[in-house]
Amino acid sequence: MPMVHRLGLRRSTLGDLMDFGQALKHAQSVATIEALRIFADTDSDPLQNAMRYALAGGKAMRGLLVLESARLHGIGADLAGPVSLAIECLHAYSLIHDDLPCMDDDDLRRGKPTVHKKWDEHTAVLAGDALQSLAFELVADAKLPAEVSVALSRGLAKAAGRVGMVGGQMLDIRAETAVEPLTLDQIIEVQNGKTGALIRWSAMAGAVMGQEDTSALEIYGDRLGLAFQIADDILDVEGDAETVGKAVGKDADAGKATFVSLLGLDGAKRRAETLVTEACECLSVYGDDADCLRQAARFVITRQS
Ligand code: IPE
Ligand code: IPE
Ligand code: MG
Ligand code: MG
Ligand code: MG
Repeated sequence: MPMVHRLGLRRSTLGDLMDFGQALKHAQSVATIEALRIFADTDSDPLQNAMRYALAGGKAMRGLLVLESARLHGIGADLAGPVSLAIECLHAYSLIHDDLPCMDDDDLRRGKPTVHKKWDEHTAVLAGDALQSLAFELVADAKLPAEVSVALSRGLAKAAGRVGMVGGQMLDIRAETAVEPLTLDQIIEVQNGKTGALIRWSAMAGAVMGQEDTSALEIYGDRLGLAFQIADDILDVEGDAETVGKAVGKDADAGKATFVSLLGLDGAKRRAETLVTEACECLSVYGDDADCLRQAARFVITRQS
């Protein structure tokens, strides 16, 4: 990769290449450290406590994608850290609302009671709302050139909203009561919004920060997002709640058309494999430097939670 010091952000060498296990732990600790910086140390504010609770205990896959794509463009965790927490805030908000009684009505998330079970529905709605706002505040406050912050914010707004996660969630909920089960193309459309959009944004974020070509990471994020939701649908059938950390068997109970209901378990696994191969192939422009992202793609379809 040519080293362009266009923004004064890039380092002359890329940060150390970590293996995926180390990088995931690093992403989790960056999120924890960044969160500690933001939240006051008080236990008397239920809104703040609910936000911190919802942020804790996830895999931090989206945060890892931000940090790793940033590293690939010579940008370290000092600059990318707040952006990686931003996507974890946005994601945590999406999960709080996804679990509400008016949505999937789930009691268990990341092995703990969901936010509306631990507190109540109004705290869950408001903690989700506040996490979404916080995500944009974090991007705005990151020590990045203004045009980069604007590009990240615009992309995040689209990925989170009507043409992204929220729009996908709407289609997903409506599909539960649809007379005709969804076709494969329709399921891909749902997933592209509800899961794919935030994952694509995370994968592209490093190239956006480096003001470099985003196209390879966009394709990578696209394939990874699809594979991620296929794996989620498979875990809903094959996983057990204790390991997965959330209720399983929900999709079939809701009569939901998923990749598994349409392709069968073996067909869904084959499709996920193909997507991971495609995701890895499009990283060839980055050479061996992208090995961690290749391992991340493999992890997405072998994970147990
Ligand atoms: C779960 O996402 C929701 C989906 C989009 C399928 P993750 O599996 O990344 O959840 P956490 O953050 O690790 O709990
Ligand atoms: C939700 O998909 C994706 C989000 C936008 C949160 P699911 O409803 O399948 O996610 P889980 O299985 O509850 O984590
Ligand atoms: Mg859902
Ligand atoms: Mg759900
Ligand atoms: Mg699911």
